[in-house]
Amino acid sequence: MAFLKLSLLLLFMLVLHGVRCKPMYHNNDEEDDLFEGLNGYRSSSNLPNFTENSNAACLAEKVADKLDALSCENAFDYSSAPGNKPNFTDFDKLLDKCDINGNNTLDGVILPVCVPKLDPTAVLSNYTNSQYAKYLNDSSYTGAGIGSEENWMVVILSTNTSTGSFSSAASLIANISNYLAALFFGLLVISVS
Ligand SMILES: *[C@@H]1O[C@H](CO)[C@@H](O)[C@H](O)[C@H]1NC(C)=O
Ligand SMILES: *[C@@H]1O[C@H](CO)[C@@H](O)[C@H](O)[C@H]1NC(C)=O
Ligand SMILES: *[C@@H]1O[C@H](CO)[C@@H](O)[C@H](O)[C@H]1NC(C)=O
Ligand SMILES: *[C@@H]1O[C@H](CO)[C@@H](O)[C@H](O)[C@H]1NC(C)=O
Ligand SMILES: *[C@@H]1O[C@H](CO)[C@@H](O)[C@H](O)[C@H]1NC(C)=O
Ligand SMILES: *[C@@H]1O[C@H](CO)[C@@H](O)[C@H](O)[C@H]1NC(C)=O
Repeated sequence: MAFLKLSLLLLFMLVLHGVRCKPMYHNNDEEDDLFEGLNGYRSSSNLPNFTENSNAACLAEKVADKLDALSCENAFDYSSAPGNKPNFTDFDKLLDKCDINGNNTLDGVILPVCVPKLDPTAVLSNYTNSQYAKYLNDSSYTGAGIGSEENWMVVILSTNTSTGSFSSAASLIANISNYLAALFFGLLVISVS
């Protein structure tokens, strides 16, 4: 009985922990299409394909949620070049929600477009035939994360260096100590019951 309680408690805490740290997201069809399209562009420029960066994708999803409230014009105004923070409020909160260390975003770029109903051909063209193309054609970007909301599509390009990886704020040590705390708490509950 005690063992069952302990197991259930641990399971519950691990699930909670997982939900907090690894926001689940699923690419929708428009996002998958764009990912393929961008890599088609990379191939035609003889550059390696982008790899999927799930932290960047989490952030792209949050950015798209924010942009959804804004008018579709001037989408390019909300892009951010390397070294610049994007021009909207609460960006740091979005980083927190995706468990990203802001220091690991400096070299990345955030590229939003707004296309009615996210028509796939128009979306891809908005990336490959615009001022964004120079980023797609740059070998220092190695990863991409994509998010969308209604008419907005957001692509975040990451590098494979620490200053552009969009990697987590939490260290492995911190994660392990969380598990240990859960275990300790579980044992405590068992010993008093
Ligand atoms: C790169 O992506 C394109 C488009 O999705 C795909 O056709 C190609 O096979 C990929 N290349 C590699 C090396 O994975
Ligand atoms: C941020 O965007 C707003 C609205 O588009 C614009 O008025 C403002 O000048 C921008 N600020 C910066 C620092 O780019
Ligand atoms: C980011 O870098 C600054 C300057 O190097 C440092 O003071 C700060 O602690 C770093 N932030 C995080 C969350 O690592
Ligand atoms: C981007 O999409 C908009 C809306 O469909 C379209 O009017 C515009 O021509 C596109 N721009 C590029 C560069 O493809
Ligand atoms: C991409 O970069 C290559 C090499 O720097 C250059 O030759 C090519 O013209 C660029 N293509 C575009 C579309 O910018
Ligand atoms: C990072 O990307 C560059 C350019 O694509 C590549 O030459 C290098 O080997 C990569 N480094 C790591 C650690 O993956």
